[in-house]
Amino acid sequence: MSDRRPAAVLIAASILDSDLGALGDEVRRAEAAGVDRIHLDVMDGHFVPNITFGWKTIEALRRVTDLPFDAHLMISEPGRWTEQFLGAGCDSITFHVEVDAGQILPALRRIREAGRSAGLSVKPKTPLTALDAYRDLLDIVLVMTVEPGFGGQSFMDDVAEAKLGPARGWLDPAGACEVQVDGGGRSETAGVIGRGGTDVIVSGSALYRAGDMAAEVGRIRAVATAARAATLVQPG
Ligand code: DX5
Ligand code: ZN
Repeated sequence: MSDRRPAAVLIAASILDSDLGALGDEVRRAEAAGVDRIHLDVMDGHFVPNITFGWKTIEALRRVTDLPFDAHLMISEPGRWTEQFLGAGCDSITFHVEVDAGQILPALRRIREAGRSAGLSVKPKTPLTALDAYRDLLDIVLVMTVEPGFGGQSFMDDVAEAKLGPARGWLDPAGACEVQVDGGGRSETAGVIGRGGTDVIVSGSALYRAGDMAAEVGRIRAVATAARAATLVQPG
């Protein structure tokens, strides 16, 4: 079975821990540092104990770069606001499988119908089996390796070990669907993430607090890509 994934693991910059007073410049800084995507953490103060920004901010940032926008909706009613995030120019919209179930299928279908990538995220304590009913509608599975709500938290190795490889194998080994990791992504954790066969690593505080952001992007990508490649050659 041919592997359709990009040769290198992709890096998505989470702007949550950037200088919020200069968001446009912070997006440009990440682009100049070589990231592949911008990861947008939307929080409603209800699904998680924090409030960040909404589609109006995303719409404004859409003018700053052509990089793909991955929206990560940590909100209780993703189905109610899907149109606004589509209208703001998100290339993918991922929300949490832990929301009220009735809104999940219609929202995934609407996102795909609009020609964007649809994703579901699982909190650390949520088993992957919670995604079973939605498997055929998923372009992205976002595995949380921290409790959602804040940047700069410690990476949960046990969650990564337990979920990443199985997610890759369960979804589709050939890789039509992306496995993304979010929370504590940095060069020190890139090895375990790569070994899990991950496609996209979200990184926030490690990038925006780095002395040299481009160097940290390069390290994360190199370590994760090498670790993933090492797992791919073993089956023979
Ligand atoms: C947390 C967010 C993450 C976070 C990542 O709820 O979903 O995207 O900003 O930041 P770091 O890399 O600092 O954990
Ligand atoms: Zn996120």
